[in-house]
Amino acid sequence: MRFFVLLFVAGALVAVPLESYKPKPLANLQQIMRGIALPNSNIIFDVQSKPPKDEMEWKTVENAAMAIAEFANLVTIPGRVRENGQPVPVHRADWNRYAQGLVSAGQACYKAAQTRKPDAVAKCTDPLSDSCSNCHDVYRDRPEPAADTKKK
Ligand code: HEC
Repeated sequence: MRFFVLLFVAGALVAVPLESYKPKPLANLQQIMRGIALPNSNIIFDVQSKPPKDEMEWKTVENAAMAIAEFANLVTIPGRVRENGQPVPVHRADWNRYAQGLVSAGQACYKAAQTRKPDAVAKCTDPLSDSCSNCHDVYRDRPEPAADTKKK
């Protein structure tokens, strides 16, 4: 379906076709890791040292937990590239399993935040950091065999 918005341009009435948005990646993998995964997981990790003081701060923790769960969608949407220009391996079974780990960890932290107890959140932080490192161990930190490191 195509929608039209009416704009007044210099007194004239103009009909402009408004294309509907199609999901597509806009940033590279490193950018969404730094921009979304890192700050939101830090909000959750910080609960132990700086417990939320009021409802609003607890809501921030809840929202950060849901951002981690939703982040699974961002790492599995087709077409995104890594910082080095290589495609994100969204077709790989283990990649999708690691993404599912974000959903489980994010939802567990969300439930923990709803209790409003820092001790409950402390129990979800290990699974949360595991959900990051499980994937990093395989896809980020393992040195890729580069042509110039081959033994001659
Ligand atoms: C499904 C796999 C996967 C999961 C899950 C994942 N990451 Fe990543 N992460 C990567 C990869 C791959 C890179 C390297 C980025 C690139 O190549 O563009 C990366 C890079 C990063 C970076 C950038 C490091 C730098 O160079 O500055 C940060 C920060 C990061 N991840 C944080 C997180 C956090 C926090 C979590 C958990 C909440 C997480 N990631 C979960 C795969 C993952």
